Amino acid sequence: MNITKATVCYFTGRGTTKQYAKAFAEALPFEATLHELRFDNPVKDTFGPDELLVVAGPVYAGYLPTFMWEQLDSVQGSKTPAALLAVYGARDYDNSLLEMDQVFTKKGFSIVGAAAVVARHSIATTIAPERPTEDDLGEMRHFAHTIAERLDTMNTIDDAPIFTFKGTVEEGVRKGGAPLTNDACDECGICVDQCPAGAIPEDNPETTNAEICVGCLRCVEVCPQSARSLPEEAIAKATARLQKLADSAKPNEFF
Ligand SMILES: Cc1cc2nc3c(=O)[nH]c(=O)nc-3n(C[C@H](O)[C@H](O)[C@H](O)COP(=O)(O)O)c2cc1C
Repeated sequence: MNITKATVCYFTGRGTTKQYAKAFAEALPFEATLHELRFDNPVKDTFGPDELLVVAGPVYAGYLPTFMWEQLDSVQGSKTPAALLAVYGARDYDNSLLEMDQVFTKKGFSIVGAAAVVARHSIATTIAPERPTEDDLGEMRHFAHTIAERLDTMNTIDDAPIFTFKGTVEEGVRKGGAPLTNDACDECGICVDQCPAGAIPEDNPETTNAEICVGCLRCVEVCPQSARSLPEEAIAKATARLQKLADSAKPNEFF
């Protein structure tokens, strides 16, 4: 198949999904545009058969965040190849690839590859703290080459491989809790600009609209004053639970 360009759509809170998405995009042998999914950055609606859509998202409670699906709602393919990247915090990617497979297939895309890759846990940051490592990003670049070669060897989209992803897909809202702000906040406004959901009001940046907040923790990541955080007990509870369930050395999986 002659693919001329790719759009790599990603949603990221603390930046690890962006790292993987960027590594993939930069390694593709054709033009690739990185597109951050934000409330104020709509994706184009229709994708043709000669382009590749790549979707990268963090795993929240075993699925992609609901916010991502809202941003991708109007996207439609027409026998368009799609590659799926699920980034997770060393516990499990659970149902996320299956969910993406089902939704994008229904939208007119054909899945040509998928990856479940490990990153620092954005709530319990002592889990897989160094990931993605340079090796992880190297694996992602290699995977981009594999996808490009796979597309090259396919005559038509009907030659796409058939995948079986684990899990079950159930309805639900997937989001995290809204962070709190402490007295160190000097109202610089960086979190207001950076929040992908538009949940922090410009005229009152010490607050967060918990209805809109995705719980992605971008504000925690970017605050120069370290004024934003989840409640300490929530972090301690998550860390204690994940220390038993997560494996920081978990290998990445490529399909
Ligand atoms: C609300 C929430 C739920 C999460 N659920 C899971 C999960 O089910 N399994 C897992 O391994 N990691 C989970 N994580 C961790 C993220 O998937 C992981 O840290 C990812 O790298 C975050 O991507 P980002 O840095 O692009 O925001 C969760 C994180 C958040 C904030």
